[in-house]
Amino acid sequence: MWLKTFATVRNSRSFTLFRTSPIRFIEKKSLLRDFRDHDVSIRLKYVQHKGVKGIRSRKGAFESISKDENDEQTFMTKDFKKEVNHDEFVNLDDRAYEELVSNVMNISPTFLTQNVFIIQPYVKWGSERNTLSTPDDQLEEAKALISSLPNWHVGHAIKIPLETLNRKALFGSGKIEELKKLIQEHKTKETLTCLFISKSTLSFAQKCFLEDTFKLPVFDRYTVVIQILRLHATSAEARLQVAMAEIPYLWAQTKDANPSQARKQGYLFTDVQRGILKTRERKLKQELERIRDHRRLLRNKRKQKNYPVIAVVGYTNAGKTSLIKALTHEQSMQPRNQLFATLDVTAHGGFLPCNLEVIYIDTVGFMSDLPTGLIECFVATLEDAMLADIILHVQDESHICKEAQRQHVVATLLSLKNSIAVNQEIPPIINVANKIDLTSSQGHRKVSKDMFYVSATERTGLKELSLEIERQILTVTGRRKITMRVQNGGPEVAWLYKNTAVKNVKADNSSAEHLLITVIIDELTMQQFKKKFLSTNYA
Ligand code: GTP
Repeated sequence: MWLKTFATVRNSRSFTLFRTSPIRFIEKKSLLRDFRDHDVSIRLKYVQHKGVKGIRSRKGAFESISKDENDEQTFMTKDFKKEVNHDEFVNLDDRAYEELVSNVMNISPTFLTQNVFIIQPYVKWGSERNTLSTPDDQLEEAKALISSLPNWHVGHAIKIPLETLNRKALFGSGKIEELKKLIQEHKTKETLTCLFISKSTLSFAQKCFLEDTFKLPVFDRYTVVIQILRLHATSAEARLQVAMAEIPYLWAQTKDANPSQARKQGYLFTDVQRGILKTRERKLKQELERIRDHRRLLRNKRKQKNYPVIAVVGYTNAGKTSLIKALTHEQSMQPRNQLFATLDVTAHGGFLPCNLEVIYIDTVGFMSDLPTGLIECFVATLEDAMLADIILHVQDESHICKEAQRQHVVATLLSLKNSIAVNQEIPPIINVANKIDLTSSQGHRKVSKDMFYVSATERTGLKELSLEIERQILTVTGRRKITMRVQNGGPEVAWLYKNTAVKNVKADNSSAEHLLITVIIDELTMQQFKKKFLSTNYA
C-alpha cells in the first residue's frame, strides 16, 4: 500500500511543504540480519540506548511542522492582528505621523505619477570614492530603483563628479547654475515632478537647500527605498519593519533641522511630533521583539524536528525566489522582476536527490549604499539565514555589477555575524551564478571552480547544484548514506521509510527474502534504529 502524505499547502509567500514520497507498509515479522555498511557491523547489538528522545513519524512531523507554521500564520493573521490589527495600526500611524512623513520624506500613501530627474553624484578620488561599482553602474541602479515604483518614470538621468558628498549644498555654485538650467529645460519639456539624488541619505540642510534651489521635491536613496518597501510590505511583520525603518530617518532629520529653516520649509518639528515618534518607536520595538521571540520559537521547533535548513541569500533581484521555486517545484511561488520583492523570510520544503527533506529559506535581498538604519530593521529577518545549516549565495551572473554585488553581500553577511547575537560562525556558503541564459557563451568559459552556474528559469545546472547541496548538508548535519540488508516485508522497512530518507531499494541477489535498502540517516535516528530492532533481535 502506498501512502501519500500531503502537508498543508499555504499561500504563495509562506511556508509550504508538499509531501509525496511513498511510505511502504510491508508485512511484519522479519529480522534484521546484516548491515551492508562497514560502519555498522554486528557489534551494534551492544550499543546502549542513551535516552534519546523519539523522533516523530515523518507524516506526523510534516503535519506538525505545517501546523507550527500554520501557528505562525495564525499568529500573524489572528492573534497578532488582534493586537496590531489594521485599525490599531492606522491609529499607530495616525494622521499627524503621516503628515510628518509626507513633509519630511515626500512620501504620499498613494502613488502619484512622477517624472523623475535622477542625479548620480560620485567622488572621483579619496576615501569617499566608491571602489566597488562605476558611476555608470550606480546610475543604472538608480534608474532601476525608480522604475520599481508604479507610475514613476525616469525623465532624465545624469551623473555628476564631486570632490565630496558632504558639502552643505552638495554641489558647487557653478554646478548648481548648470543644473538649474538643465532642470528648467527638462521641467518644461518633460514636466518633471521631482529630483532623485542617488546618495544614501541627504542631510536636512542639503535637502532644504536643493528643494529651495530647484523648486522640486527631492528624494534620496533612503526615501525611494522606503517607498518601494511600503509598496511590497504586505504581511504584518513586513509592514512593522518598514514602519520601523522610517524612524531613524525621521529622527536624523529632526535632529539635523534648523528650526527657522524647518518652519520655512513647512516642516514642524514640535515636541508633539517628537512625542509621536517616540511613542511609535516604542510600540514598534515591542511588537518586533514579540515577533522575533516567536520566530526563535519556531526555529527551535524546526531544529527539534531535524530538518536541514538552507538559507538562500543574495542581492535584490538576483533570482533567489526563482531558484527556490526551481529546486522545490513550488508552483505557487511568484518571482517578480522588482527590487525588494521579498520582504518576509519564508520557508519552503524541498527534497534533495537522496530524497532527504530540507527547508529552503527565502530572505530579503541586499542592496549597496543603503544607510545602516534602514538595513538594521531587516537584520532580524536574516537571523534565520545566519542559523541555517548552509547558505546559498545567489548572484546574477548577467548583471554588469555582479562583482560589486557579490562583495556587498559577503560584507553584509560578515557584518550580520556581529550584529545578530547568534554567537556563531557563518554557515558554509555555496556560490550560485544565476541567469546564465542571459550571458554569452564567452562568459561561461570563465567558470570558477567554486561557483555553480545555473539558470533558475531555464532549469539548467540544477542537478549539479542539488548534488553539491546534498554533499554539504550531509557533511554539516552529520548524516550518512548506509545500505542495510533487511527482511523483505519486515517492520524495519516501514520504520526506515518513516524515519529516514530512503534513497534506493533493490532486491538482494543472494536471497529472495531480503532487500538492500539505502537510506540517509543521522546518528540519532541510527541509535533509535539499533535500539528498536537490534536489541530485541539479539537479546
Ligand atoms: P528580491 O526578492 O527582490 O530580492 O528578488 P529575488 O532575488 O528573489 O529575484 P526573483 O526570483 O524574484 O527574480 C527576479 C527576476 O529575475 C524575475 O523577473 C525572474 O523571472 C528573473 N530571473 C530569475 N532567475 C532567472 C534566470 O535564471 N534567467 C532569467 N532570464 N531570468 C531570471
